Amino acid sequence: MRTELRLVRLVRPYWGLLAAGLAVTFLASVLDGFVLVVLIPLLKNLFGTAGELNAGSTQLEAWVDWMVQPLVAGLPPAQAAGRLVVVLAAGLLIKNAFAYLSNQITVRAQEGLVRDLRTRLFDHLLTLDLGYFQRTRPGQVISAMMSEADQTKTVITASLVALFRNVVVLLVTLVVLSQISMRLTLFTLAFVPLLVILLQRLIRRLRVHARARSKERGEVTATVTERIGAMRLIRSYGEEARESAGFDAQTSRYRKQAIRTQRFSSLTSPITEVFSGFLVILIIWAATRPDLLGLEAPLAPATIIVFLMAALRLTSPLKTISGFPAVMALALASAERVFQVLDEPSAEVDRPGEGEARFERRIVFDRVSFRYGDGEPVLRDISFTIPRGKVVALVGPSGAGKTTLADLLPRFHDPSAGQILLDDVPLTRLRRRSIRALMGVVSQDTLLLNTTVLANIAYGSAGASRDRIEAAAEAANAAGFIRQLPQGFDTVLGERGTRLSGGQRQRIAIARALLRDSPILILDEATSSLDTESERLVQQAIDRLMRERTVLVIAHRLATVRDADEIVVLEEGRMVQQGTHDELSRAGGLYRRLHDLQFREDEAAVGARAR
Ligand SMILES: Nc1ncnc2c1ncn2[C@@H]1O[C@H](COP(=O)(O)OP(=O)(O)O)[C@@H](O)[C@H]1O
Ligand SMILES: [Mg+2]
Repeated sequence: MRTELRLVRLVRPYWGLLAAGLAVTFLASVLDGFVLVVLIPLLKNLFGTAGELNAGSTQLEAWVDWMVQPLVAGLPPAQAAGRLVVVLAAGLLIKNAFAYLSNQITVRAQEGLVRDLRTRLFDHLLTLDLGYFQRTRPGQVISAMMSEADQTKTVITASLVALFRNVVVLLVTLVVLSQISMRLTLFTLAFVPLLVILLQRLIRRLRVHARARSKERGEVTATVTERIGAMRLIRSYGEEARESAGFDAQTSRYRKQAIRTQRFSSLTSPITEVFSGFLVILIIWAATRPDLLGLEAPLAPATIIVFLMAALRLTSPLKTISGFPAVMALALASAERVFQVLDEPSAEVDRPGEGEARFERRIVFDRVSFRYGDGEPVLRDISFTIPRGKVVALVGPSGAGKTTLADLLPRFHDPSAGQILLDDVPLTRLRRRSIRALMGVVSQDTLLLNTTVLANIAYGSAGASRDRIEAAAEAANAAGFIRQLPQGFDTVLGERGTRLSGGQRQRIAIARALLRDSPILILDEATSSLDTESERLVQQAIDRLMRERTVLVIAHRLATVRDADEIVVLEEGRMVQQGTHDELSRAGGLYRRLHDLQFREDEAAVGARAR
């Protein structure tokens, strides 16, 4: 029930629109009934029984009589028939115009719902813990956002409008029927519960299958998005055949699930069709035996025809109304997947009491421990201080926890124990946005967006002038290669900036941090994967970036480490050494060993340059 209620809440902004749509629908349905009953005098006229019209045997006929009498009074039968046909045609035309209008109104409401769902999903994604994006396949999220949000809109078409329209048609038809013969109508209705029970059983199975289908659809989307990103890997390792077979298996699974789902949803239609067929036969049979139902008088042939036509009109609304749970089951399964994403707890929300961050004196890591989720501790009891304007380097073997430690500073995660203090205020008491406004981050993998170089550098510095952006690129040693791009600074970089080399991407990321000009800088192995030439350019850029800033740098290169004011050595999440390069080199231990292994080549290079 929860999902249904939440959907009702989502639809709330569109009540006005929907009410208008329903009103128009109502008018169309009433007109529909009108067209139907006007058939009675027409048929009587054609059967040559028009004279009996005045002596209308039923209440309905009396009404119709009252309605059409002014139109046809005193006219010869042929002319009266002509008038009735005109009325019929006009009624039919207006009815369909209304139906079209109601359809247009509905589309506006349902597309509004889809847009709302998508923007809510997107906004929610922006608040989720970074861990969510590591746990979840992007395709599943994309699928929720695109297909499932789209499917959810059937809630409006199916439930609100179609249901309403059909209920109205059903009621109007029932009024017509009962006015012709109450007993015959009751006889007809006696069979309806049978249909409802039959369909109900189908629906339950259907919802289960629909849920499974939504999941499979997400998996297919996920695979496609991942493989598109991994095309280079697939080619290099010749995995095309295996990927093709794997994808084939996956789409076949989806096919199977879709067929299963469809099997149940398609069954509703033939079941109702057969049901109404039998109903018509039963009605004819009962109507021709007045004594059977205790009818006072046999019905006029024209009346029986209209009764049958009306009874047949029950089929379509009955089909829709009874198929309604099926359609709803599909929409609800989709809505559930949308809500599943929306229900992921937001990590990035400001809590009451959080203040604005300011930075004048120092950053203190005070006995900080951290674990991802319920896992093993990744950081244990880490304490050190970064005074303003100083550079602290983190060194350690891969997997030691350097990146994790650096992620704690902008509050991508909060420590499991201990605290990080910014000017003696714990980070957890400061608003995330205000903390991050103080920081520039150049991370291990440089992230570029599919937009111009200019916009990529200005990301996070809205309103920066073109001059300042170009100056930042200059300082980052990036202006040279940027000017050689086809449209210079206005070149669009393509998905993930793939048209640039690693070193070029990194220099754009550095330009971005330079432009932001924030007092605190976090650098994560910014030079780890570069060749010597681009490394020299990047290193120069980094040196400029680090000038007069407070820096936490994760370094693999000797040059950066040697000049650091302090070096923190991590091993398996623990701080094993701390000191300056000279102190640690003398002391031996892990730093010395890392130094000997990792930096020997650098030392040779540095030495060569010095000479
Ligand atoms: N999102 C994550 N979830 C669970 N464990 C993680 C996650 N990220 C990193 N780890 C684990 O934390 C440890 C430290 O990783 P990391 O901080 O990236 O090390 P480093 O940057 O020093 O190479 C590793 O054992 C790694 O497997
Ligand atoms: Mg790392």
